This record gives sequence, structure tokens and C-alpha cells, in this order.
Amino acid sequence: MEPLWTTRIRGATAIDVDPRHLVTAERLAAGGWPGVFGRPAPLVVELGFGNGQSLAEMAAARPGCNFVGIEVFGKGIVKLTRRLEREGIGNVRVIQGDALAALGKLFAPGVVDELHVNFPDPWPKRRHHKRRMVAPPFVDLVFRQVRPGGVVHLATDFTCYAFQMRTVFEAHPGFANGAGPHRFRYHVPGRIRTKYERKFAAQGATIRYLTYLRAAR
Ligand SMILES: C[S@@+](CC[C@H](N)C(=O)[O-])C[C@H]1O[C@@H](n2cnc3c(N)ncnc32)[C@H](O)[C@@H]1O
Repeated sequence: MEPLWTTRIRGATAIDVDPRHLVTAERLAAGGWPGVFGRPAPLVVELGFGNGQSLAEMAAARPGCNFVGIEVFGKGIVKLTRRLEREGIGNVRVIQGDALAALGKLFAPGVVDELHVNFPDPWPKRRHHKRRMVAPPFVDLVFRQVRPGGVVHLATDFTCYAFQMRTVFEAHPGFANGAGPHRFRYHVPGRIRTKYERKFAAQGATIRYLTYLRAAR
């Protein structure tokens, strides 16, 4: 089985990515996430960041935080890391792999301060709904890995997936909807938009946002 952490990006050549942007088992084992970044700081994680547009912009806007992106798409990782180099953004690290597996294995319970899931694949066919990321096992995992008082941000343009996200998070006693029970938000002031978000917004799609606060215990 391939390790979850790697300096070789699948879908690109190893030379495309500077290993300093990538999480290595050695650095993680040596000092945990503060060791990976060379400093302790609030840890923000984005799952399925695509081309990393919003991840890079969030990291640049919040230099006091450590950002980790988990993505399977090699070309997106290369695009993000090139941008980090071009713009001198030093507070992002990348894992190529499955988001759930990586979140479960590479993070100790309660170390994540903030989690972002933006426009996860909607799997529109009914028989594929079981492949959706935001489902009850995901919520249990997020409850373990996000610290008490931490925050989860979700966004989708896909109406039925938005309702599924809301249903599974509100069914969990460890999360409270930041906008009030069962409420979506349709506009989030100051939000940095992802590539897909910009595309969907330009097409006039309705985008739903959810923020869940992880209970103190
Ligand atoms: C619809 S795109 C959205 C990309 C980005 N979040 C945005 O809003 O522009 C979904 C992304 O999730 C990634 N993805 C899907 N399943 C994943 C998984 N299990 N682990 C990590 N990334 C995943 C895909 O490769 C793709 O880049």
C-alpha cells in the first residue's frame, strides 16, 4: 500500500513539486504539525482544494495560521505549489491522498482548529450518493479531529447535497449551526472564493454555505 505522505506527485513528475511544500512522514513524526511548519500555530485544513486558489489566498491573508491542503488531483497540487513559490507563501503544506484517510491517520484528535470543504464532488446519481464525502462517518471523524470550539465550513451549489450536509451535521449532537438551527447562509462577508465558486456564481447558481461549531466537549 502506498503511503499517504509523499514527495512524488502522481499525475505529475517529482521534479514539478518542491518537497518543502509536502508533508513527509519524517517531519510529522519528529515534531507533529508544529514540526512540519517549524512553528506552532492554529491549524486550518482544506479537503479537496482543487487548484488551491482559495487555499493560497486564505494562507496569504492569514499568515499567523498553518494551512494543510489534502487533494488527490496531482495537477491541482502542482498548480498550488507553483503559486506558493511565485507569491512567497510559506504557511501551506500539501498531502496528496484521500481526504478522509489522511484526516483520520495524520492528525491527532482535536488538533484541527478549522476545516474547510468547498464544493465536494456532488455525485448526482442516486446510486452514487453513497460516495459523497459529507456523510455520517465523515461527521464522526470531523468531530474527533476538530478541537472543541473549532469550526467547520462547508459550501456547495448542489441543492440536494446541501440538504444532506445540513441533515448529517445537525443530527450530530457535537455540532451547532453557526447561523441558527437548520439555516443556510447565502452570502458570507469577507469569504475568499474558490475556483468552482467563482464559476458557479458567474453562472447564477445558488450557493449554500454552512458553518458548524464543534461543541466544547
Ligand atoms: C468539485 S472539485 C472542487 C475543488 C475546489 N474545492 C473548488 O471549490 O474549486 C472537488 C475536488 O475534490 C477532490 N477530491 C474528491 N474526492 C477526494 C478525496 N477523497 N480526497 C481528496 N480530494 C478529493 C477532487 O480531486 C476535486 O479537486
